[in-house]
Amino acid sequence: MEMSPLLERITDAIAPLRGSGEVADYIPALARVAPDRFGIGVAEVDGGVHGAGDWETPFSMQSISKVFTLAMVLAEGDDTLWRRVGREPSGNPFNSLVQLEHERGIPRNPFINAGALAVTDQLISLTGDAVAALLEFLRTESANPALPVDDEVAISERANADRNLALAHFMASYGNMRNPVDEVIDQYVRQCSIAMSCRDLAQAGLFLARHGVRRDGTGHLSRSQAKRINAIMLTCGTYDAAGEFAYHVGIPGKSGVGGGILAIVPGRCAVAVWSPGLDRRGNSVAGVAALDHFTTLTGWSVF
Ligand code: DON
Repeated sequence: MEMSPLLERITDAIAPLRGSGEVADYIPALARVAPDRFGIGVAEVDGGVHGAGDWETPFSMQSISKVFTLAMVLAEGDDTLWRRVGREPSGNPFNSLVQLEHERGIPRNPFINAGALAVTDQLISLTGDAVAALLEFLRTESANPALPVDDEVAISERANADRNLALAHFMASYGNMRNPVDEVIDQYVRQCSIAMSCRDLAQAGLFLARHGVRRDGTGHLSRSQAKRINAIMLTCGTYDAAGEFAYHVGIPGKSGVGGGILAIVPGRCAVAVWSPGLDRRGNSVAGVAALDHFTTLTGWSVF
């Protein structure tokens, strides 16, 4: 399949949707991004990297970081995570408090905020500095040693973190937090504030299409661990829209409120899309549409 013309075709097809939806404004620094940007990048298992539109423009990775922190905890061989976080879709918004009380401080899955906070907490215990470990991994896999934490976004989110603080304190009250809440929140907002382009993100996520194998041929995850992360992305990666995403797109995907989505075609490629306008569940409108076109035109849905 000729990838570059395909990506140009998708970029043309979604053009009417550019600017649709709302830019996340609960983090003031994100509200300033132009809503009509769009990029798509693909990294293939054979080493090819292709893109169209604004695919080399950095954006805030936000919740997409949760895939990488989960992979890092599991790569450390630390399965104890599954005693403190579940693996079921939540059917609730990503920052909901309600379910956490019903389930006595055990978050439904590692991609809703509560679950991601537990993952970051565990990664701090394993590495001492979760963000430093994450940045090193992302820089190596994307071959972009300059990938930054966007401090403006991090400070902006930290100043508006009441709900995440509430989630973390709530878990702490059930004994499900190992490090001080303030430290976990500091690290979490910084991991979310890493700025990456579609090119960077597709390359960094490629290990999930390569059954856990990194850029240099070494194993990050076992085949079975990579399969399981892809399964959790499919069932939980787009929150209360995961069913719709599976219906329309049909591959594992993880969204972020910066407007990015990382999607995986196991055995073939990683696809990153970005467009900042979000639907009411926090997923990129043009990004989801582009992935719908991508799996339709390639026939690469997993179903
Ligand atoms: O926790 C937050 O609110 C953000 N840093 C990340 C949220 C996010 O990206 C959810 N995804 N759609």
